[in-house]
Amino acid sequence: MTKYKRTLVTAALPYANGPVHIGHLAGCYLPADIYVRYLRSIGHDVKFVCGSDEHGVPITIKAKKENSTPQQVVDKYHKIMGDAFNEFGISFDVYSRTSSKIHHQTASDFFSTLYNKGSFTEQITEQYFDETANQFLADRYITGTCPKCANPNAYGDQCEKCGSTLNATDLINPKSTLSGNKPILKETKNWFLPLDKLQPKIKEYIEQHKDWKANVYGQCRSWIESGDGLQPRAMTRDLDWGVAVPIKGADGKVLYVWFDAPIGYISATKELLPNNWEDYWKKDDSRLIHFIGKDNIVFHCIIFPAMLMEHGEFILADNVPANEFLNLEGDKISTSRNWAVWLHEYLQEFKGQQDVLRYTLCANAPETKDNDFTWKDFQTKNNSELVAIFGNFINRTLVLTHKFYEGKVPIATNYTKEDLLTLEELASAPQKISKAIEQFKFREAITEWMNVARIGNKYLAETEPWKLIKTDEERVKTIMNIALQISCNLAILAEPFLPFTSKKLFGLLNIQPLNWNAALQTSNIHSGHIINKEELLFAKVEDDSIQLQLNKLQQSKLDNAIPATIKEIKVETTFDDFTKMDIRTATIVAAEVVPKTDKLLKLTLDTGIDTRTVVSGIATYYKPQDVIGQKVCLLANLAPRKIKGIESQGMILMAENADGELSFISPTKIQINNGSEVK
Ligand code: MF3
Ligand code: ZN
Repeated sequence: MTKYKRTLVTAALPYANGPVHIGHLAGCYLPADIYVRYLRSIGHDVKFVCGSDEHGVPITIKAKKENSTPQQVVDKYHKIMGDAFNEFGISFDVYSRTSSKIHHQTASDFFSTLYNKGSFTEQITEQYFDETANQFLADRYITGTCPKCANPNAYGDQCEKCGSTLNATDLINPKSTLSGNKPILKETKNWFLPLDKLQPKIKEYIEQHKDWKANVYGQCRSWIESGDGLQPRAMTRDLDWGVAVPIKGADGKVLYVWFDAPIGYISATKELLPNNWEDYWKKDDSRLIHFIGKDNIVFHCIIFPAMLMEHGEFILADNVPANEFLNLEGDKISTSRNWAVWLHEYLQEFKGQQDVLRYTLCANAPETKDNDFTWKDFQTKNNSELVAIFGNFINRTLVLTHKFYEGKVPIATNYTKEDLLTLEELASAPQKISKAIEQFKFREAITEWMNVARIGNKYLAETEPWKLIKTDEERVKTIMNIALQISCNLAILAEPFLPFTSKKLFGLLNIQPLNWNAALQTSNIHSGHIINKEELLFAKVEDDSIQLQLNKLQQSKLDNAIPATIKEIKVETTFDDFTKMDIRTATIVAAEVVPKTDKLLKLTLDTGIDTRTVVSGIATYYKPQDVIGQKVCLLANLAPRKIKGIESQGMILMAENADGELSFISPTKIQINNGSEVK
């Protein structure tokens, strides 16, 4: 940290095509926020920028789905996302958007600079074109089989199964998602960034950063080393939504969304600091950190740095702490399957409990591997940690302070060895937490924070002030003073993780929020100071509210269950043909399994006109004794046929589902006697 005067922290610009869920939060916004809040608290000059990624195919796809325009889509979701981040305390200094004028200008200028320097190669390539839709197909509009892992649902730019980045023309059996047709190849001119030529410089950059998280460094290495290494990548696209390509002869083309979006970090900084944004982007004593999810690694570690190198004026990211993915109850989070915990819904169902989610997501962050969010774990983290450890300690301390001293902080006099040890442990906590945060180990950091509450609980359990008050009032004053110091430092150290709780706790202690370095001291609350009346910081999460959440997910499962294949309707028939069939109601009066078969029943039917025998293939589902007395519909004029030597005189109508399960069709009214016509 010391090397740098200032830090710019970016969090991946989320596509403005849907609301925010816990996967977003855990993936990059929460760790970024913790990091930034921490830097602010230690007094470091830090800016935190983000915004909506409003271009690219995800937006146009959503617009098609919602039957609206891309602009309407981004307006709607930009607001929803910005509000959700805000309510969860994600403390961006600016939440901008890439449809803004300042961004179009910045991205356009950036492209022109590279163009004028001759950074791009012009290439005429054959791109997939959908003749029915009369347009070139963006990668995301093409699906096909992945050449690397044979996943049949790979996209034109990426296979989500094996993680490979693809070119649309790599796909086996490509299909347009617009029309379902096989696209044709058509020539078009685009501008490419020759990553192949830049590879040595990029490699050098990556090799300078062996300190990056193993998952990030590893992915970069495999990009560079795999196969033929880096390939030229088109920075313009044939599309009508995005930043127009600012050169002649590029009508109907826009900047590739992965070209324009990261420039959004620059535009957002400009918006925030019109006069000194360059300090954060162009000075060597500035540090740039990108928080992202793992699917964004290549764009932030290879393509964007390559763009910045070519431009020449900008610093490169010093670190790119990428998280792995968060799953939900054992399944991949999915917007389309509604398999998610939506922040706006959580806020309604767990009012005022943002910090519980922040705590759970941080303690269980997918830092080194994919991780699973479960509601059970959420409940446990709340009830057994936030309530039982932290909340319990604070509550006991505040209650006793009011009980013994009417809320007035007592004076500490003689410290015992035990006291000094506790104070020492308390004073060493900030460094431990700092170290973990600075290494992007947020799980470890929040565990260290909770350990401070554990120190407090242990201290109270061992000193037992509630008993001691009867025999040694003087000693209890020191104990309670120490308990209050622990509470205060907990409030300080909670701020990056649980900002709402930190604020509340400062309120209860009746002091102004203190910054990080104060927690190196163990005497922040002065004797004689009056604290406020206690209030519970966390409430128990009951089983029924967990069950409610599980039910909701269960409902999503049901809603998205693949419908059983329903057979198509047969070719048209005529009324006359239908009336030729004589269908009657009848009652089964006797039944037995046809010998040496397991599927057939020999049924005796009372048709109201006669008694007859019908052989029916229902024995898999019905036992003889269960069908006696069953009312049925019988095709009564079907030509008799011999089945297993028995003459079958008609056929019973059954409904059959996709799994082959059978059900009788029978009249539901008593008055329908045997022999009634079905028509
Ligand atoms: N919108 C992209 C996503 O959600 C992230 C863009 S990050 C930026 O995956 F760098 F391009 F801004
Ligand atoms: Zn694949």
